[in-house]
Amino acid sequence: MINSLIHSMIVCPDLDKQYARLTHGKGVYVFDETGKRYLDGASGSAAVSNIGYGIPEIGEIFREQSAKIVVTPAHGFSSPVVEAYLDKLVQFAPEGFKRAWTVMSGTDAVENAIKLAYQYHQIKGNVERYKVIGRWSSYHGNSIFTLDVGGMKLRRATYERWMNNFPHIPPAYAYRKPAEQSLEEYSKSCSDALEKCILEEGPETVAAFVFEPVVAAALGAVPPPDEKYLREIRRICTKYDVVMIADEILTGFGRLGENFGLDRWNVKPDIIAAGKGISGGYYPLSAVIANSNICKVFEDSKTPFLGGHTFACSPLGAAIGSFVIDYMQDMKINSHAARMGELFLGQLERLYKYDIVGDVRGAGLLAGVELVRDKSTRSPFPPALTLSKRIGERSIDKGVILYPGKGSVNGYEGDHIMITPPLILDEDHIETIVSTMEICIEEVQEEIKELVA
Ligand SMILES: Cc1ncc(COP(=O)(O)O)c(C=O)c1O
Repeated sequence: MINSLIHSMIVCPDLDKQYARLTHGKGVYVFDETGKRYLDGASGSAAVSNIGYGIPEIGEIFREQSAKIVVTPAHGFSSPVVEAYLDKLVQFAPEGFKRAWTVMSGTDAVENAIKLAYQYHQIKGNVERYKVIGRWSSYHGNSIFTLDVGGMKLRRATYERWMNNFPHIPPAYAYRKPAEQSLEEYSKSCSDALEKCILEEGPETVAAFVFEPVVAAALGAVPPPDEKYLREIRRICTKYDVVMIADEILTGFGRLGENFGLDRWNVKPDIIAAGKGISGGYYPLSAVIANSNICKVFEDSKTPFLGGHTFACSPLGAAIGSFVIDYMQDMKINSHAARMGELFLGQLERLYKYDIVGDVRGAGLLAGVELVRDKSTRSPFPPALTLSKRIGERSIDKGVILYPGKGSVNGYEGDHIMITPPLILDEDHIETIVSTMEICIEEVQEEIKELVA
């Protein structure tokens, strides 16, 4: 249908489908060439357009910065716009964070965060520490390395021969905990799994643990099971000198109503990988931010980080990123997102009236709805039914963009819908999203009755 495109899983995946062609966006809306308006409940793909579409000042910044300088021979020079931005980014991070480096995508940020952790150990003489522990049903990026550290079985499957270099622990997924366990017991069993894994692998071989504070696309907005879980993870990482890397690509920059998602639980990692909302989608920008313990090892040994990309520390990215932080602070985006997030999650509970809605969950403006065949057993629908996709397509027809996902039960089965609207939305937008979801779920519930009978 589209002549020159390599259809990817994320860019117009259905070869036979005629996709609506978007031409512009404004605020929480995007518009196609026929003038049809869509409320972007996904914020790009996904959770990127946190501050909304079509902010005119950003055009000015592009114009000004590109007239000055867009790239530097970084091996021999620094740049004031980059220096000022990195200082601002470090200030934006929790106390104790000291240095930052920008790259282009979330995948780059996570991969470089892991390389930084690995090199940190190498410099310290921990030369056998190379393993990276991840969690099943997490997404950390689409390079072979980050797919391997991540735990999305569907996305890993094709590349299986290049995979399985690293251990994984369970995802800490309260809705699917064993029925006989209390939430507290379950939470403890999930954090204990990290310690057990480190001991089994041998602490002297483990470099880092990587996790999403709230599991986003892979599970559909699953927060930690309780208040203790992340504190336990912090304690265990410290105990074994395992570098704790928070993948805040999706949870950072106001998504949970705080600068970074972990701020919500008052837990500080050693390295943060940030992306998506860092530029609001106006530039391909991401960052690695490290605390002073990590930095000190490099400083004391006068060793540079062995990372390098043509567009690392881009002056243009720095100018845009700097604007985004100022804008978020001036417009009080975080407190608005926190308030709207509570309202949104409360309104989404209306969906429990449908037989196929098993769980409504999330944190801030990162919300998820899990769809089940049977609420009492929590069993999923057959994947061939493409349930979440059906709901997502209907919703687009009705002018609301959602983010359908699959594989939440075991990596292959299970349907969920993630909703990550721009953080600037208001009560009316929330009502539009939730009421459209009500209509779509009701219609699809009817439609599939015969198919699963
Ligand atoms: C938690 C998380 N980490 C990493 C990534 C990868 O980011 P990118 O697609 O920018 O490479 C994503 C993207 O969805 C993500 O959600």
